[in-house]
Amino acid sequence: MKVTVVGAGAVGASCAEYIAIKDFASEVVILDIKEGFAEGKAMDLMQTASLNNFDTKITGSTNDYSKTAGSDVCVITSGIPRKPGMTREELIGINAGIVKMVSSSLIEHSPNTIIIVVSNPMDTMTYLVHKTTGLAKNKIIGMGGALDSARFKYRLAEALGAPISDVDGMVIGGHSDKGMVPLIGKAARNSVKVSEFLSEERMDQVVQDTKVGGATLTGLLGTSAWYAPGAAVSAMVQAIACDTKKIFPCSALLDGEFGLSDLSIGVPCVLGANGIEKIVEISLTDAEKTKLAESAEGVKATNGLLEL
Ligand code: 2OP
Repeated sequence: MKVTVVGAGAVGASCAEYIAIKDFASEVVILDIKEGFAEGKAMDLMQTASLNNFDTKITGSTNDYSKTAGSDVCVITSGIPRKPGMTREELIGINAGIVKMVSSSLIEHSPNTIIIVVSNPMDTMTYLVHKTTGLAKNKIIGMGGALDSARFKYRLAEALGAPISDVDGMVIGGHSDKGMVPLIGKAARNSVKVSEFLSEERMDQVVQDTKVGGATLTGLLGTSAWYAPGAAVSAMVQAIACDTKKIFPCSALLDGEFGLSDLSIGVPCVLGANGIEKIVEISLTDAEKTKLAESAEGVKATNGLLEL
């Protein structure tokens, strides 16, 4: 299994590190435009191999896409991260051009690859990769919901005073502060609905804290988060590499599912060797359907800013 990670910044390097430590890939290639940066990150990571007991071979390259040839999975993290007070959507002006160039370069050397998009505004960047590459729609996956669900579980565990391993929850919809849809009505502590433990007010607070999870960290860190984004995308890569058929909320191109079409947005997906094996049309309450539809309107409005 060969994996390419484009962007040797904090998210890309964290993703590469987690993939290596899980040791399911034979090779990880990190690419960056900054001279020597990817090579340095790769060498530093390789010097942890004996300490973290992995055999994955990590190499770095300064913008030489020939080094990515034959990649089974390519992760696009390149582009600028947001600063405190910014929305993810404000990044479209710079990141769209980068993602278009990167995705075109990747499929030139790996025509059968699966692409996972992390760059923001992620749902719109994922849609752009569909339009740019023409890859089969099951081979283009946006990473947002896996991260937002991890933050949702963190907030649920905090509210419940429970260990994270006892908590389950999923976030669907757009990967945006206003648009994401934490499915609080379906969240559970060891199969018991959280509504049996928490008040309406506390559940609302969990939802709100989840929606601004990224912005909260950007305010604290002065830049976008990287550990949880890196971990989320590495978990998706592992599901593909090991053909686990796990369900993740992923940004997927819809063609009528949930009554939505011609956009990529977060919905439950079975991930396996073929990328998106299946979009799972779970039952939604009327309120959840309305929130998802509103989220879709927001994503389509951002898509409308693309120069396709
Ligand atoms: C986040 O929410 C980077 O969009 C990513 O942290």
